[in-house]
Amino acid sequence: MGEKSRDQLAVKFEEYFQRNLPTAPSFHPHFEKALQWLLKVPGKRFRPLLILKVVEAYEPLLVDGAMPVAAGVELLHTYSLIHDDLPAMDNGDLRRGVPTLHRQFDEVTAILVGDGLNTEGFRLIATAPLSPEVRVRVVAVLGEVGGLGGIVVGQALDCYFEGRKLPIKELEELHRLKTGKLIAGALKIGAIIGNRPHLEEPLFQFGLRLGLLFQIQDDLLDLQREEVVGKSTGLDSRKNTFVTLLGAEEARNRAEQLAEELKREMEGWDPRLREKLGSFLEGYLFRHWSF
Ligand code: IPE
Ligand code: IPE
Ligand code: MG
Ligand code: MG
Ligand code: MG
Repeated sequence: MGEKSRDQLAVKFEEYFQRNLPTAPSFHPHFEKALQWLLKVPGKRFRPLLILKVVEAYEPLLVDGAMPVAAGVELLHTYSLIHDDLPAMDNGDLRRGVPTLHRQFDEVTAILVGDGLNTEGFRLIATAPLSPEVRVRVVAVLGEVGGLGGIVVGQALDCYFEGRKLPIKELEELHRLKTGKLIAGALKIGAIIGNRPHLEEPLFQFGLRLGLLFQIQDDLLDLQREEVVGKSTGLDSRKNTFVTLLGAEEARNRAEQLAEELKREMEGWDPRLREKLGSFLEGYLFRHWSF
């Protein structure tokens, strides 16, 4: 964590993000506070940093122009967490170390804050100081991975199959949709803004595998105490996860194996990408837990 907090790009993004929190002035007594509730507390900002690291590797002068895009992707991700925590979905009480939106405020507010963050994410991208072609392409990618080509269908599968065990191949597909696609999309967006068309597809494919690893690690986090993780845990017993289907030991083995494969792939990247994105990802590949 100490190392990550010294990451200049992460610091720069966080400053930008906090200076440009979405607003919604009205005579509603608490909507704007609720809108900013989960944005003001620290998150890993993993997806925005994926975008920014790729841009920094290839077009450092465009990092400033990419900031609103990175922020927009974080807003969409945060919407997906707020809705994920709703009673009808995972019914989580704690998120990023604070009470979830529907616990702190109410369910209607949580639904509408989610809706607002989702749409605001696209508005930020549409108005970013980048070329119109780049903005349109980024909107199309995010619309796909954040919607019907990713999160939304993944979450529908996740909830529909609660209490019914899926084969591992289908679990992998579910994880790819609900988590992998947005992570892959973030890397692709980095390649679009960084003007490296030949890297769009390889980075997307790498991101799908990185996203699968990220979600297996998240499945393992559900075994931890919530004070450690900062979000409600122990919610997955009826879910299809690597831990519930294969057990913690095998889930850890799969994570380690996947991390090794990704690490080897990263060794083949060009030096610029290795220096910026590779060193950032090192901290995420092998996460060890004390249980
Ligand atoms: C949590 O995402 C949901 C998953 C897709 C695993 P993060 O682990 O990135 O959560 P924050 O943004 O840091 O809170
Ligand atoms: C949610 O997966 C993925 C999303 C698209 C939000 P989880 O339900 O496992 O995420 P957490 O554990 O609540 O963060
Ligand atoms: Mg969920
Ligand atoms: Mg959840
Ligand atoms: Mg989880």
